[in-house]
Amino acid sequence: MLILGIESSCDETAAAVVEDGRTIHSSIISSQIPIHKEWGGVVPELASREHLVKIDSVVKEALKTANMGLKEIDAIAVTQGPGLIGSLLVGVSYAKGLALAEKKPIVPVNHIEGHFFSVALGEEKIEYPAMALIVSGGHTNLFFSPKPGKYRVVSRSRDDAAGEAFDKVAKMLGLGYPGGPIVEKIATKGNPHAVKFPIAKISDGKPDFSFSGLKTAVMRYLRLEEIVALEEGEEVTKKIADICASFQYTVVRSLMQVTKKQLQIFQPKSLIIAGGVACNSELRSLGQEIGDELSIPVLFPTKHLSTDNAAMIASAAFFRFSDLATKKLTFSADTSMRLQNLGDEDDVLRKNKVRYRL
Ligand code: KG4
Ligand code: ZN
Repeated sequence: MLILGIESSCDETAAAVVEDGRTIHSSIISSQIPIHKEWGGVVPELASREHLVKIDSVVKEALKTANMGLKEIDAIAVTQGPGLIGSLLVGVSYAKGLALAEKKPIVPVNHIEGHFFSVALGEEKIEYPAMALIVSGGHTNLFFSPKPGKYRVVSRSRDDAAGEAFDKVAKMLGLGYPGGPIVEKIATKGNPHAVKFPIAKISDGKPDFSFSGLKTAVMRYLRLEEIVALEEGEEVTKKIADICASFQYTVVRSLMQVTKKQLQIFQPKSLIIAGGVACNSELRSLGQEIGDELSIPVLFPTKHLSTDNAAMIASAAFFRFSDLATKKLTFSADTSMRLQNLGDEDDVLRKNKVRYRL
């Protein structure tokens, strides 16, 4: 089955042709980073306008690179949510138009489920029950998935997403946007133990994530040490490299500390770590280390497929086709779409006497 995937939930206009959920024939990504860079973050209005400008050519390029016409495509998959409303609407409207004109089935996909299936692109097989840590600029959630298409959020961020924390700290230090890759690069020159930043403890004791306290701790430290944001072109000091390394160390430890606790409770057959922050080598190595310690295979997407792309949307559509391709053209963009549709009947939860929010 050949699926044309379309993704436009945030600041990447992307299209891809994927066969049977695993083989990528093309994956085109038009990034808006140069546009949003000067504002230090994504400007929703600029994002939707740029999607509108790019979407047609990105889809055509994906088909051309795959050496295919629309006639050979079996279905069109599109990100329905979550994301920015203007951005989502561009992709959803375009995909609906295409599906109507070409008489193709349309598959609305949850962006987070796309990140989940990004590890299926290639040879990797997801063994169920699975756990998935999805960490990006907009989301930080740990899911338990007893079987394909069933998910329960077992840990979530109470405030900022992990990628958002990277972006905000980079902004405070004047390092540019997006912060994650820059902080990671600078951190290689710093000492991760130079500054002791706190790992958040949730007051009600639930195994959740929190990053806003860490962000404030970095801000306080900068004030205390009278460190100001770098000007453009200014050289990075050892002190800033130490802050980046210590901050990254703390984020990675807090993510994996909670994840390890949940892995021990749920004992899944595989752990997926995906989303933009999964590009981070420190997170990859600690994730792998914990997986090895608990004898749970850890699946990562390639770095190219960790950040937003349309191949993962096409892949999720393939693996969930029988459930999702029924909506025809009646669905609309859903900015706060959730991925948690598991009833209380789940055995693993009952056996472990674990009660979580739905
Ligand atoms: O998945 P993604 O492309 O978009 C969202 O769905 O949000 O993730 C983007 C986020 C940004 O916050 C970016 O700073 C972060 O992923 N990121 C990283 C790295 N590469 C990207 N964070 C830490 N280390 C990285 N190497
Ligand atoms: Zn994403």
